[in-house]
Amino acid sequence: MQAAEFQFLSGLLKKRSGLALTEEKQYLVESRLLPVARKHGCDSVISLVSLIKSKPKEEILNEVTEAMTTNESLFFRDTKPFDYLRQATLPEYKAIPGKNSLRIWSAACSTGQEPYSIAMCLLEEAAKMAGWRYEIIATDLAVKVLDRAKEGVYSQFEIQRGLPIQMLIKYFTQQPGTTSWQAKENLRTMVNYRMQNLLEDLSPLGKFDIIFCRNVLIYFDEDTRAMVAGHLARLLPRGGHLFLGSTEMLIDRTNLFTASDQCRGLYRLK
Ligand SMILES: C[S@@+](CC[C@H](N)C(=O)[O-])C[C@H]1O[C@@H](n2cnc3c(N)ncnc32)[C@H](O)[C@@H]1O
Repeated sequence: MQAAEFQFLSGLLKKRSGLALTEEKQYLVESRLLPVARKHGCDSVISLVSLIKSKPKEEILNEVTEAMTTNESLFFRDTKPFDYLRQATLPEYKAIPGKNSLRIWSAACSTGQEPYSIAMCLLEEAAKMAGWRYEIIATDLAVKVLDRAKEGVYSQFEIQRGLPIQMLIKYFTQQPGTTSWQAKENLRTMVNYRMQNLLEDLSPLGKFDIIFCRNVLIYFDEDTRAMVAGHLARLLPRGGHLFLGSTEMLIDRTNLFTASDQCRGLYRLK
């Protein structure tokens, strides 16, 4: 691929998903987009770029965007945020007089491990939170991961990454004749999946008490991260919880959030 094609694709991806590509990612772009190119009758990424320039079909643009997303996820990723949710966040909300419902958003949910981990935390605490109503909205830009998330079927390898055996037995059933496991219906129905690009208008989602927006802002440049942080802030009440990835730093130019000293990656709206 020549510099011109790389520049074109970087610009396209930045605009459509926020992905910030550096020159050394050229090989990655080539390897991820070659199958898309072939599917549309092109023998190289250079021809795919020509095709997009001459006929910018939404279907191809979506496939290019999705192919460049990194969908790596695991159950109870980093452990601590989920322990903190159970041990500190839920009791804090329980102590608010008159409050008996929570809206939680998993904002880049990938294949569903994150929203199902949240749902399992809520079910584990159900006895202490009797009468509470929950709504978990899980969104992603990529339709193919959302389809997988809704189905809730995970391979042995995916199950082994973070899901404790007691949780596996309680909340999943083994698929007959396979080594895969599916989330039980009571877990699946707790999560409401939708397509949502974090760069687009988020207001139709409504307000949330808690947002998990983990391991996605790292793919954006600083300006995009700051913009998304501002948009997320509008969906939270004062004191609302924003969980980022444990290694992510919030770019908060307007100083809207305070970093928690109790849990790495947790921010509270001022
Ligand atoms: C690495 S996964 C993180 C999954 C999960 N949050 C976790 O921490 O395990 C990043 C996800 O962000 C999604 N994504 C990337 N850009 C996005 C955007 N602009 N809007 C919404 N989702 C996006 C990708 O499709 C991908 O599924």
